Amino acid sequence: MKLKDVTFTLFSTFAIIAALPCDIKSVTSHGIHGFTCSCNASYCDTIEDFQVSHEEVLGFVSSDAGKRFQKFTVKQSDISNDSKTIKIKLNSSQTFQKIEGFGAAFTDAATINLKKLSPATQNKLLEAYFDPIKGLGYTFGRVPLGSCDFSTRVYSYDDTDQDFNLTHFALAKEDLDFKIPAIQAAKKFNNDIKLFASPWSSPAWMKATKDVKGYSGLAGDINGPYYKSYAKYFGRFLQEYSKHGLQYWGLTVTNEPSGCYGYQCMIMNASTQIDFVALHLREALNKAGFETVKIMIHDDTRNKMVPVAKTVAADPEKRKLIDGLAFHWYDWNTLEPVRQTHELLPDKFTLSTEACNGWQDTERGVYLGSWLRATRYARDIIRGINAYSIGWVDWNFCLDGNGGPNWVSNFVDSPIIVDETSDSFIKQPMYYALGHFSRFVPPNSKRIYISSPPANLKLEATATLTPDNTIVVVVLNDEEKPIDVEIADVVTGKPFQLSLDSRSITTLLYKLA
Ligand SMILES: *[C@@H]1O[C@H](CO)[C@@H](O)[C@H](O)[C@H]1NC(C)=O
Ligand SMILES: *[C@@H]1O[C@H](CO)[C@@H](O)[C@H](O)[C@H]1NC(C)=O
Ligand SMILES: *[C@@H]1O[C@H](CO)[C@@H](O)[C@H](O)[C@H]1NC(C)=O
Ligand SMILES: *[C@@H]1O[C@H](CO)[C@@H](O)[C@H](O)[C@H]1NC(C)=O
Ligand SMILES: *[C@@H]1O[C@H](CO)[C@@H](O)[C@H](O)[C@H]1NC(C)=O
Repeated sequence: MKLKDVTFTLFSTFAIIAALPCDIKSVTSHGIHGFTCSCNASYCDTIEDFQVSHEEVLGFVSSDAGKRFQKFTVKQSDISNDSKTIKIKLNSSQTFQKIEGFGAAFTDAATINLKKLSPATQNKLLEAYFDPIKGLGYTFGRVPLGSCDFSTRVYSYDDTDQDFNLTHFALAKEDLDFKIPAIQAAKKFNNDIKLFASPWSSPAWMKATKDVKGYSGLAGDINGPYYKSYAKYFGRFLQEYSKHGLQYWGLTVTNEPSGCYGYQCMIMNASTQIDFVALHLREALNKAGFETVKIMIHDDTRNKMVPVAKTVAADPEKRKLIDGLAFHWYDWNTLEPVRQTHELLPDKFTLSTEACNGWQDTERGVYLGSWLRATRYARDIIRGINAYSIGWVDWNFCLDGNGGPNWVSNFVDSPIIVDETSDSFIKQPMYYALGHFSRFVPPNSKRIYISSPPANLKLEATATLTPDNTIVVVVLNDEEKPIDVEIADVVTGKPFQLSLDSRSITTLLYKLA
């Protein structure tokens, strides 16, 4: 009998899978020191499975100093310690929006990179994201509908001019060889991945300029054949994917319809998006057999969100056909437009559908091991949840060492960087930042009340209640020093005290009694 079997027998009712530690590498990238974790076909660090109790608080911490999901426990006490000046209050009875989950995008680039690895290493990479115990438990997958900048060429699913009935519609080799196999393999770890599709442009022939690039929308009038055909295009896409066993949860009407940046794009203002949904898209999806697929509009930068929300709010009839507003992170400092959108449209959800570091020319591409980039993720996720967003979806789930491929050289960073030559990949701090939420906050958790930490400290926190009655608090300490805090639930009354590591992300869990 192997040692593993003995352990399993002894603790079979509480079978805890021990964590494999990070194979840590010290790196200096762009003059900044950081850490990465190396993975290959036979080794990759995992998160320790855990049991949550109501007697003590379980914690997991990752830090700039190199901790990665390091486990610890804290006792709950009966009394508050007055010498602890920073007090954070929770109210587990005051619940807000339901969380739908976290995830990333199955772009051409990500899935092309994945396929460069051996089958065993591909499996490790997908496990690292999608396994609900050993990995990050991702539940969302965004899929570009057609090509985008993170493709190696420009294509659509129907390039036959004036083919309004889409008789020549066909998926591309990128779908058949890369995206579909990757999604199917990811579903082996979690069969409930919520997929949503986003086109960057319609086929060129449907557009006013007959070009997938450059400032242009669909050709002709909103009641004309081009808009009708574009609606049908979504239905055909969903039908083709269902032939491969892949059902979609939702879609966005188009990616970033407010502007063009040198690659595939499509202009559509707020009223045209709403009219398109009301006049064509909902009906086309119903006809194609996808009555429950959620329709999101906007899918664009948060700073342009409020006027779109106001346009929806002004039309009580068309408003009914829209499920939510998707937003991107590129003005990451504020979530105020997201909160305002909720106030204008409390019956619609908001979802963060794209985020990445390294998109600015001042810090372009991959910065290996950057803790700063992890803290930006954590801050944005915390603020997004606190502003009523139902989840957070990363951009490319893996990229190569250059931050590509990308046919217009719009290279960015990713939580996982693959190295084809050594059949391996590395996990960056951003991977752990996302995991501090996705692994511990399952779908159908609800945000609960948490008091704001003192404004003079770089401290951010959010709290949720899971369907199995676990309180999950995630705290980002972005100060260069440890911070002592006392956290207390006003309902249970039991406070607990701990010291948050300098520049760290901590997840704290306990069961409500
Ligand atoms: C995989 O990684 C582990 C841990 O770093 C190492 O011991 C092993 O040699 C690696 N295997 C290969 C094939 O590189
Ligand atoms: C309160 O905190 C102070 C400072 O950290 C510590 O010395 C003291 O033992 C704590 N008291 C209790 C009752 O936990
Ligand atoms: C906690 O939240 C509940 C529900 O909103 C509210 O009734 C209660 O007054 C709150 N408790 C405190 C101490 O704020
Ligand atoms: C498109 O389909 C409709 C209904 O299925 C049909 O009436 C029409 O003739 C078709 N048009 C073309 C150009 O094939
Ligand atoms: C929105 O775009 C349509 C064309 O798609 C145009 O007719 C309309 O005037 C625009 N509305 C606003 C408010 O800019």
